[in-house]
Amino acid sequence: MGTLAWLNGNFCELDDAKVGVQDRGFLFGDGVYDVIKIYYGRPFSLQAHLERLQRSSLAISIDIPYSLEEIEVVIGSLIKDSKCMSGFVYMQATRGCAPRDHYFPSGVTPTLLIYVLDIGMPASRDNLTPTDCITLPDERWMNCHIKSINLLPNILALQKAKEAGAGEAILYRADGTVTEGTRTNIFAVVDGTVRTHPESRHILTGITRNIALDILHNGNIRLAEKAFTIEDLSEASEVWTTSTGLEIAPVKNIDGQLVNKVVPGPICSFLIEEFWKKIEVECCG
Ligand code: PDD
Repeated sequence: MGTLAWLNGNFCELDDAKVGVQDRGFLFGDGVYDVIKIYYGRPFSLQAHLERLQRSSLAISIDIPYSLEEIEVVIGSLIKDSKCMSGFVYMQATRGCAPRDHYFPSGVTPTLLIYVLDIGMPASRDNLTPTDCITLPDERWMNCHIKSINLLPNILALQKAKEAGAGEAILYRADGTVTEGTRTNIFAVVDGTVRTHPESRHILTGITRNIALDILHNGNIRLAEKAFTIEDLSEASEVWTTSTGLEIAPVKNIDGQLVNKVVPGPICSFLIEEFWKKIEVECCG
């Protein structure tokens, strides 16, 4: 069976899902998206992702013509019909199809695409490979809290990382403040305190980030949602990334410098353990 999709009210194979070339997502990148991970045949943190999709779309005045409850039903059907045990749900909403003009078109129905991508093998905490990172200037816009489909700076930075033999680029602003990765949030243990950039226009408020913060808080780990600099990062005893796709991923090397001999370190190991317990409770129960 191919990949199952749902486009503007109709189920189909992903390859048969077609939008017009005048779709504003295609012409202008005028849209938003979200990604949910499927474990054991169930979507993880579904509600948080649906709410973020809605927040992102409302932030750019796209009024998705389906309720979150309707979208939830679609996702349930897609996962069930594709018999997907492990994979992703991708959701993308654009302002719709209209003759090219920078102004918002009137009377146009937004495009909503949802599909399920089966990754074939069961997700497992044992697949954990520490990531190597490089650091790069953050060249993105001032509204990174919106999960926009405009990912060009992210893609270019990630490609540079790949060409340097790394798995992620850690982005920093002109004053040296670390914001996040190209597709992950970044945590560092600086002077014994876990730090991550606070919610702001400079980062995406990751769902995995928020779960990690909850776990650390409940574990009475010293924690501050306080930005850190590239210099702090070079002295951190532990660094990890958080994201839907890569979960909690320890960082081994940054710009060729070893973070620590033991990776993952104790706090990251605790977090991974507790994160997987959450997955199991929510998706296996
Ligand atoms: N990326 N920061 C950025 C810029 C991201 O693109 C992502 C996620 C995150 C982590 O957010 P979350 O924990 O909610 O996945 C942080 C997704 C997975 C993607 O683009 O495929």
